[in-house]
Parts: sequence; C-alpha cells; structure tokens
Amino acid sequence: MKTSGWGKFIFITFSIFWLGGCGSNDTQVNIQELLAKPMTYVGSEECKFCHLEHYDSWKNTLHSRTITDVTENRDALIAEIDPDVIRADLKLLKKELKVPVDQVYIPKVEEIKYTIGMQWKQGFVVEKNGVLYVAPIQYNAKTDHWVNYNEDTWDKRPWIEYCAGCHAMGADLEKSTISEPSVGCEACHGPGSHHVALPETAIFDKRLTIVNPSRLPAGFRTQICGSCHASGTSTKVKGIKWPVGYQPGRALGLYFKTPSYDGKNLKEAYANDFRKGHHQQYLSWKLSTHANEGVTCTSCHYVHQLGVPPTQFQTKGSGSQQCLMCHQVINQKMAHSIHSFANCIGCHMPRIAKSDESGDNHSHAFVTLLPKDTLQNPKVPNSCQTCHKHKDADLATLQNLYDGLTQKSLFRVHQSRQRW
Ligand code: HEC
Ligand code: HEC
Ligand code: HEC
Ligand code: HEC
Ligand code: HEC
Ligand code: HEC
Ligand code: HEC
Ligand code: HEC
Repeated sequence: MKTSGWGKFIFITFSIFWLGGCGSNDTQVNIQELLAKPMTYVGSEECKFCHLEHYDSWKNTLHSRTITDVTENRDALIAEIDPDVIRADLKLLKKELKVPVDQVYIPKVEEIKYTIGMQWKQGFVVEKNGVLYVAPIQYNAKTDHWVNYNEDTWDKRPWIEYCAGCHAMGADLEKSTISEPSVGCEACHGPGSHHVALPETAIFDKRLTIVNPSRLPAGFRTQICGSCHASGTSTKVKGIKWPVGYQPGRALGLYFKTPSYDGKNLKEAYANDFRKGHHQQYLSWKLSTHANEGVTCTSCHYVHQLGVPPTQFQTKGSGSQQCLMCHQVINQKMAHSIHSFANCIGCHMPRIAKSDESGDNHSHAFVTLLPKDTLQNPKVPNSCQTCHKHKDADLATLQNLYDGLTQKSLFRVHQSRQRW
C-alpha cells in the first residue's frame, strides 16, 4: 500500500513535468483516468508526508492507538497478566460467573495479539483457530481491577464482527481483514487513494477527493462521530453492531439503526432516554439544544490537537472552561446563584453513563437533572447527588432548597424554557 501510494504520486508528478510542454489537456486526462479507479483506503501513514502537523497531533489522541499490536510493542499492555491476581479479582465479583473462576480462559502474554483501549479499561485480542477474539478478561484502569468479559461465549464472538468497525479502519467482514489498527485519518475523511495520488498542484481536485468535515452541514459532520460514538445495528449485515459500509459525508441513518428506547429499554437508557452506556455521546447529544443550534462534537472536542493544550478528554478548554468559551455571560439567578463556584460540567454533564464502572462517563444531553427528577422516578439519577452524597434521605430537602432559591426570582422571562 505504502509504496503504491507514493508510486502513483511520483508517477504523476513525473508525468506532469514530462507532459508539461504538451499543454494542460494531457494532465487532465491523467487525472480523469486516476479518478475512474475505485477509491480505497491508503492508511494514515500516507497522509503524513503532506499533512505532518495533522498527523503528529492526531498521534497525541486516543484515536491513533485504539488497538496496539502487542507483538511489536509489549509496552501496550498496561497491566501484568498474572493468572493468580486475575482469578483472585474474579472471585471478588459479586455476580456469579457463567464459567467457574478457575476455568476462565486467561491468555498468556505470547498469545495476545492486540490490546484494545487504555484510558478506562483494556481488553485483549487473541487468536483461536485462525480467528481473532476478545479474551474473556478485562482490566479496569480506574478501580485497578480485573473483571470477566463474556467468559462463556467469547470464542463465538469474532473480533472483526463485534469490534473492528469502530476500533480499526477498513474492516472487511468477508476477508476478515482491517486496513489499519486505529481510528485513522480516513475514518473521518473517507478513503483517500484519489486524494493521495493527485499531484499537489491540483489543489481543487485534491479538495474534491477528500471529505473535510468542516465543509459539511452540522448534522452530517456530527454523524461521522456518531458512526462510532453511538450504539445501534447495521442495516446492511444482520447481527453487526456498527454501520457497515458507511463513509463520512453519507447519511448515517441508511447504515445504522440507532433505536429510540422510548423509556422502555432500561438496559441502555434511563427512563428519560439519556444514555446509560459508554460510546453513546451522539445519542444523548441529539436530544440537546446544542444539537438544534449546530454546536457539534468538534465545537468542543479537538481531533487533531492543533494549537490547543492537551486535555483529558480532548476538549478545547479544560473542564468548565470549555463552556465559558461560548457562555461568557450566564444568568446569576436561580440555580446559578446556589454555588460559590461554577462547575458547569458537574450539573450539566453529570457522570451518569458507564464505561468501566457506573458513573464514569459524562451525559451529553447538557441538561441538569434535579432532585425532583429522581423523586419522580427513582430510576433516573440527578446531577446534585454526584457531589451531595447524603443519598436518598435529603433529596426532598435539596429540592426544597433549590425551589426556595429559584422561586425568589419572580421575573422568569426567558428562563422557563420547556424541557422535553
Ligand atoms: C501529496 C500530498 C498530499 C497527501 C499525501 C495528502 N494530502 Fe491532503 N491535501 C493536499 C493538498 C495540496 C491539499 C489542498 C490544500 C488546500 O486546500 O489549501 C489537501 C487538502 C486536504 C484536506 C482539506 C480538504 C478541503 O476541502 O479543505 C483534507 C481533509 C486532507 N487533505 C486530508 C488528507 C488525508 C486524510 C490524507 C491521507 C489519506 C491526505 N490528505 C494526503 C496534499 C496531500
Ligand atoms: C476523529 C475524526 C478525525 C480524524 C481521525 C482525523 N481528522 Fe482531520 N479533520 C477532522 C475534522 C472534524 C476536521 C474539520 C476541522 C476541525 O474540526 O478540526 C478536520 C480537518 C482536517 C484538515 C483540513 C485543515 C484543517 O485543519 O481544518 C486536514 C488537512 C486534516 N483534517 C487531515 C487529517 C489527517 C492527515 C489525519 C490523520 C493523521 C486526520 N485529519 C485525522 C476530523 C478528523
Ligand atoms: C471509526 C470510529 C470512530 C470515529 C469515526 C470517531 N471516533 Fe472518537 N473514538 C473512537 C474510539 C474507538 C475511541 C476510544 C479510543 C481508545 O481509548 O482506545 C474514541 C475516543 C474518542 C475520544 C476520547 C475519549 C476519552 O475517553 O478520552 C474523544 C473525545 C472522541 N473519540 C471524539 C470523537 C469525535 C469528536 C469524533 C468525530 C469528529 C470521533 N471521535 C470520531 C472511535 C471513533
Ligand atoms: C459502535 C462502535 C463501537 C463498537 C462496535 C465497539 N466499540 Fe469499544 N468503544 C467505542 C467508542 C466510541 C469508545 C470510546 C468512547 C467511550 O468509551 O465512550 C470505545 C471504548 C472502548 C474501550 C475503552 C477504551 C479506553 O481507552 O479505555 C474498550 C476497552 C472497548 N471500547 C472495547 C470494545 C470491544 C472489546 C468491542 C467489541 C466487543 C467494542 N469495544 C466494540 C466504540 C465501539
Ligand atoms: C458543548 C461541549 C461538548 C459537545 C458538543 C460534545 N462534548 Fe464530549 N465532552 C465535553 C466535555 C466538557 C467532556 C468532559 C470533559 C471533562 O470532564 O473535562 C466530554 C467528554 C467526552 C468523552 C469522554 C467520555 C465521556 O463521555 O465522559 C467523549 C468520548 C466525548 N465527549 C465525545 C463526544 C462526541 C462524540 C460528541 C458529539 C456527538 C461530543 N462529545 C459533544 C463537551 C462536549
Ligand atoms: C461553541 C459554543 C458553545 C459551547 C462551547 C457551549 N455551548 Fe451551550 N449553547 C450554545 C448555544 C449556541 C446554545 C443555544 C442558545 C442559547 O441558549 O444560548 C447553547 C445552549 C446551552 C444550554 C441551554 C439549553 C436549553 O435548553 O435552554 C445549556 C444548559 C448549555 N448550552 C450548557 C453548556 C455547557 C454545560 C457547556 C460546556 C460543557 C456548553 N454549553 C458549551 C453554545 C455553546
Ligand atoms: C447547581 C447546578 C448548576 C451549575 C453549577 C450550572 N448550572 Fe446552568 N443551569 C442549571 C439549571 C438547574 C438550569 C435550568 C434553570 C431554569 O431554567 O430553571 C440551568 C440553566 C442553564 C442555561 C440555560 C438558561 C440560561 O440561564 O441561559 C445555560 C446556558 C447554562 N445553565 C449554562 C451554564 C454554564 C455555562 C455553567 C458554568 C459556568 C452552569 N450553567 C453552571 C444548573 C447549573
Ligand atoms: C460539583 C459538585 C456539586 C454539584 C454537582 C452540586 N453541588 Fe450543591 N454544593 C456543592 C458544594 C461544595 C457546596 C458548598 C459550597 C458552596 O456553596 O459553594 C454546595 C452547596 C449547595 C447548597 C447550599 C446549601 C447547603 O446545603 O449548604 C444548595 C442548596 C445546593 N448545593 C444545591 C445543589 C443542587 C440543587 C444541585 C443540583 C442541581 C447541586 N447542589 C449540585 C457541590 C455541588
């Protein structure tokens, strides 16, 4: 792949110089010929030559290392694979495992091909009879614990079908191959073979042969992120839980069915439809005023860390600074008069979703959940209790305190925006 991309590039550059004297028509024929070939994935390494800054800064993000080849880099393992420690942790689990603890398969280091993840948790890809699977153990980084992961069915869930569509590039279900072990440039910019092969001077053709998300309407721009930061099922291949065949710029809905739970599927969503699980930011965001106003994922998050300092979750400002970039003036009445500090995220993005443990991922609906939301339906959490931890007893008191403060403000013009 590598050489062919460069090969084309050199060939074309050479042809241009060579044909230079014969007039521009010949160059155009070359370009057209080139564009007639099918567009394919070339890999992020190919983009490096001309977009070094983007490449370099993308390398700083987790997208560049969603999976890591352990055979090439042992340091990718964030934990030691010690069967005694792992089994001891599994024994501590409150739930009953479907396989006795001493029979749960624990891979040897040499058997691990790839690691998946590292920020919250790490999974391990192993090979069995020529097929890649996710081993039935997982390391949770925050709690420093080992937990089980499909201990009974793990070797019936091929990695390529279950995970590769979102954690790697160009997953091909028929050939069981991927084109790149990361969320590479082309995950958001579309296949780049035409763009790479065109001569650098053909700026306008170059622009036309690659997707620049910032030129797409807000909805389509965000669907790119939504193709992985959402849960759903493929409309093209039965049983697959990622949007097979989707490419940036296309309508995600044609490839990915992200069901509305209407408060019924309480496994995945709370009764108010806010999501419970990780990688569902897109679905909660869709419920928000931000979605209506065109404030998209990349209004807040960087994807190539250009011109901004690194932050824990790739936000352009750290913590609540992110909100203050746009909301420079907020009304200091009502809820906003309660605290002497302004932790926007604490109230508007409560940690109610789960990656490795309940309550570590942020809600992306940007709505403050009040004590009364929990009082009305105990299955709905609230923002206040992430800090005011005196559990259920003082929920009513908290709500009363809140009501007392907010009712003081009689002028509620522009304040009583209806919540869905
Ligand atoms: C041979 C050099 C070269 C290579 C390799 C290359 N690009 Fe480009 N790229 C360019 C040039 C030249 C432009 C046009 C610059 C401009 O718009 O001012 C461009 C523009 C872009 C744009 C902006 C398009 C727009 O509409 O504004 C994106 C996005 C992009 N490239 C992504 C990529 C990706 C992804 C790869 C790897 C698959 C890649 N490029 C490989 C030279 C290259
Ligand atoms: C997770 C999605 C994502 C990945 C991965 C990604 N980009 Fe981008 N890229 C974007 C978005 C979104 C924009 C629009 C501008 C912005 O928001 O930064 C963009 C803009 C660009 C542009 C246009 C110039 C600019 O900065 O606006 C270039 C060139 C580019 N990306 C190259 C790359 C290259 C090269 C890689 C891989 C090394 C890459 N991108 C990886 C999402 C991505
Ligand atoms: C091809 C799938 C894919 C696409 C497209 C994608 N992401 Fe991601 N994203 C991932 C995966 C997988 C991870 C987890 C990486 C890891 O930790 O191993 C991730 C991680 C992240 C993180 C860091 C999360 C953390 O825990 O710190 C942010 C922020 C993020 N993505 C934002 C975006 C935005 C914004 C876009 C759209 C411009 C986008 N992503 C597009 C798959 C994707
Ligand atoms: C629909 C897309 C999608 C599918 C399918 C998917 N993931 Fe993810 N996964 C993500 C995204 C996006 C993130 C990062 C954002 C988040 O966690 O909220 C992520 C995060 C993770 C993390 C945490 C990364 C870290 O740095 O801590 C692990 C581990 C993980 N996934 C494992 C898996 C495994 C194993 C499978 C297959 C059984 C799988 N995922 C299938 C999209 C997906
Ligand atoms: C209005 C700003 C804003 C928008 C829009 C936004 N995010 Fe976030 N996101 C944040 C903040 C703030 C955090 C938490 C940062 C912190 O606590 O420092 C976060 C956290 C995350 C994380 C880390 C895991 C988690 O859920 O806690 C991921 C992944 C993520 N966002 C992806 C996305 C995606 C994908 C979109 C678009 C669908 C999006 N975000 C839209 C501000 C935003
Ligand atoms: C890129 C600019 C931008 C950023 C960054 C941003 N917002 Fe907003 N926000 C808006 C716009 C625009 C609106 C809609 C107009 C309005 O109500 O001011 C809005 C509306 C809101 C609303 C009102 C919702 C409603 O239904 O009335 C809340 C709450 C909110 N934002 C919270 C936040 C929080 C919390 C953050 C930080 C995580 C944040 N915003 C970051 C631009 C932004
Ligand atoms: C104590 C929890 C809490 C904190 C902290 C908080 N908010 Fe709010 N915010 C609320 C509640 C509750 C509402 C709904 C108010 C109402 O309409 O009664 C709200 C409403 C809003 C609105 C829409 C109405 C308006 O006043 O324009 C915006 C925008 C907003 N908040 C942004 C922010 C930003 C930015 C920060 C950080 C500087 C922040 N909030 C901090 C609880 C909080
Ligand atoms: C980020 C953590 C955090 C969140 C989220 C939070 N609080 Fe607080 N709250 C505090 C702290 C710390 C104090 C005491 C210091 C102060 O007043 O600033 C406090 C004080 C208060 C007080 C003053 C009376 C008292 O008990 O001392 C009220 C009332 C209150 N909070 C209500 C709420 C409500 C209602 C919510 C949810 C909408 C909420 N808080 C969310 C941390 C938080």
